[in-house]
Amino acid sequence: MRRHLGLRLLSVDHHHALVQAARMQSNPTRETAAAFLQFWKNETCRHFREEETILLPIFARDGGNVATEAIGQMLTDHIRIRAAVLAIEDELREGRIDPEFFQRTGAILEAHVRLEERIVFPYIQENLSESGLNEIGAHLETDHETAGGASCVTSRPGSGESVENPERSEKRADGA
Ligand SMILES: [Fe+2]
Ligand SMILES: [Fe+2]
Repeated sequence: MRRHLGLRLLSVDHHHALVQAARMQSNPTRETAAAFLQFWKNETCRHFREEETILLPIFARDGGNVATEAIGQMLTDHIRIRAAVLAIEDELREGRIDPEFFQRTGAILEAHVRLEERIVFPYIQENLSESGLNEIGAHLETDHETAGGASCVTSRPGSGESVENPERSEKRADGA
């Protein structure tokens, strides 16, 4: 099924998430973990929020049944991945990474994207009106333009920005 334009921005994000998930599973190093946290702050945190606060509520408002096994699994995945982000951030702050846990998180992320692309999104497309899908698309466009990663910081209160990110260190070295 061709993805409706209203959901297209989320599907573009999914491609990026699959690339991350593959790296997490094939190369579970501290560098990959730092890159994953950066990806989370830049993109996935916003993406999850958009699914939770735009996609599913508009679908439900217009009569869509959200009490399905797939949507239950989708939201449980969100919580598990958010929890994994917190744990990985703690690990990196201590200068270590648990490769098996990190690989498992990559596998959960990959399965999550596939669940949405294969089951949840086709289901929403089939059961939501054209105007509902367009409304979602309009909200997503605004959100993509205006939402930065600021609301997605995961550091523990008071701990500051302590997770070393290779990209950011490079920028700092350049005086950026
Ligand atoms: Fe999701
Ligand atoms: Fe998604």
